[in-house]
Amino acid sequence: TRNVLFDTDPGCDDAVMLAMALGHDAVDVVGLSTVCGNSTVTNTTRNALAILDHGGFDVPVARGCERPLVDDLTTAEWIHGEGGLRGDLPDPTSEPVDQHGADFIVEQAREHGDDLTIAAVGPLTNLAIALAKEPALPEMVDDIYLMGGAAFQSGNVTPAAEANFHNDPAAASRVIQDAEAKMVGLDVTNGASPAPETIDSYGERGGGFGVVADWIGYPEAAQGVGQDRLAVHDAAVAADLVDPGVLSFEEYFCEVDTTGGPSHGAVVCDQYGVRDAEPNASVAVDMDLERFRSVFRAGVEGYAAA
Ligand code: BDR
Ligand code: CA
Repeated sequence: TRNVLFDTDPGCDDAVMLAMALGHDAVDVVGLSTVCGNSTVTNTTRNALAILDHGGFDVPVARGCERPLVDDLTTAEWIHGEGGLRGDLPDPTSEPVDQHGADFIVEQAREHGDDLTIAAVGPLTNLAIALAKEPALPEMVDDIYLMGGAAFQSGNVTPAAEANFHNDPAAASRVIQDAEAKMVGLDVTNGASPAPETIDSYGERGGGFGVVADWIGYPEAAQGVGQDRLAVHDAAVAADLVDPGVLSFEEYFCEVDTTGGPSHGAVVCDQYGVRDAEPNASVAVDMDLERFRSVFRAGVEGYAAA
């Protein structure tokens, strides 16, 4: 089993990712830290608790940052739904722990050491602050996965930038410089969609499966960003945690643009090594769709039937 802390802004695809990880024995979810992004941190924290309560999972949730480091907050309720999550989960009865998300990340890293993987799938504000508080974090833990960036293709919120990086470019820049991260960007996540017939069958089964179908069944939101169905971006990370090798990675030197121009928040990835700099990130370049879908089905089965 792999111990994982998720830093997340649920968020429909975050919810799918959490269901997959919670529902699968290969991953032990040790905690969640929440961040503003898809909606306010009040909403993303409530959604995280509601997702856990609904599946009957007792996992600590630490509320994190309520605004990006430098930029203004922009949210995406038009994609993820009013309150940041489609469907209608009951309000949670559980409460967040009495600790800030960034401190929770540092504490969990100290407690679990290299027996912990961190997966950050929202704006990187909490992780940047955790790195500022504990610069040795990348050496302490096992892997640090990020969902963010678009290494070799266009963005989804601006022509150049992906949403998580664009939401907090200063934080993304710090994390890319220092975290030696596995960067899972739009290059692979645009293709991370469950089979349409699987989603349809969940809708018909209803109950916990219907809830998951609600999170994914919003194809209208995919139009205009090169998808015919909504990609569940964050779920690509969960798939590789459960079944390492779903994603293939290559090492590159990357930088995040924070200069405020048309590429603000975009990651610049030195594909041909023209900078002659040491690689600082593992960049996801390919995804095995069949294996992704098989982890998705098994994880959702475990979550929805729980
Ligand atoms: C990322 O941005 C958010 O809207 C999603 O939850 C995902 O983490 C995709 O660009
Ligand atoms: Ca997210």
